[in-house]
Amino acid sequence: MDISQLQLDSDGKLRHFLSIDGLNRQILTDILDRADSFLDITHRINKTVDLLQGRTVINLFFEASTRTRTTFELAEKRLSADIINLNIATSATNKGESLLDTIRNLQAMQCDMFVIRHGMSGASQFIAQHVAPHVAVVNGGDGWHAHPSQAMLDMYTIRHHKKNFEPLRVAIVGDVMHSRVARSQIHALNMLGVHEVRVIGPKTLMPTDIEKMGVTVFHKIEQGLKDVDVVIMLRLQNERMQGAFIPNQAEFYHTYGLTAERFTLAAPDAIVMHPGPINRGVEIESTVADSKHSVILEQVNLGIAVRMAILAMTIRTSGEASR
Ligand code: NCD
Repeated sequence: MDISQLQLDSDGKLRHFLSIDGLNRQILTDILDRADSFLDITHRINKTVDLLQGRTVINLFFEASTRTRTTFELAEKRLSADIINLNIATSATNKGESLLDTIRNLQAMQCDMFVIRHGMSGASQFIAQHVAPHVAVVNGGDGWHAHPSQAMLDMYTIRHHKKNFEPLRVAIVGDVMHSRVARSQIHALNMLGVHEVRVIGPKTLMPTDIEKMGVTVFHKIEQGLKDVDVVIMLRLQNERMQGAFIPNQAEFYHTYGLTAERFTLAAPDAIVMHPGPINRGVEIESTVADSKHSVILEQVNLGIAVRMAILAMTIRTSGEASR
């Protein structure tokens, strides 16, 4: 089954949330608009609503995560869901149980939703193809493939600051090759109709045929940053590199690091974003990361409202449950 059939119901509503690819502008806009309605709640003293009351969400994180895991958990709590965080290190997947058997067992406990991060590209899609009809799957990042909730919180942060997508030039800088975030961002930015998406980095960290995704490629950061409205920096994802893709980190910073001086090439009111974790002095200068142009911590905060929107739009409603 192709990814859009898997993600959308016959009436065009979200069924699973696996990848931006296969969605459409209407769904992306609905997520952003729904996040608006949750943003007010996150500023109240009582931050909970009962939308997911009595529903069980299992967070399955097979890979390290700080921001994604914590903000998904907060989003679930603010929607009043019952939550299980499966500790993979001490679970039976370490005793040889297959991923699918783990899922089947958890499903037998009557859970309603899985939020999954996995090192293997396609893991969430694979699980979505095998869960019961009442269970929804949300991708929290799969291998190099996709990190759609990150892309949506990035789009939300951009809309928050820039209002309209159409006139924007957006540059994504660094290790595009190993970045699931960049892939999802490129799909989302193009779907939302931005004027230009640029990717900047060395040839060794640029996927071949990336132009086919609708981006302009730059190998010189000074050229690529010229007049952009949004700069998105990426970490060197060393854990995914086998062999040497760059001479060393100091050389990378020298050639591609976002310094305060280079940032002056961007539009005067440009914003700086980063999915985190940031590596100061490797892809970004500390003064830029901490400057008034930086919205890096705001991304984290807005991510809670966006993830609440994704969970609320994906969970099966009681009428659809078939047990
Ligand atoms: C990213 C990820 O895990 O893909 N981080 C995140 O979810 N905020 C990016 C990264 O690891 O560099």
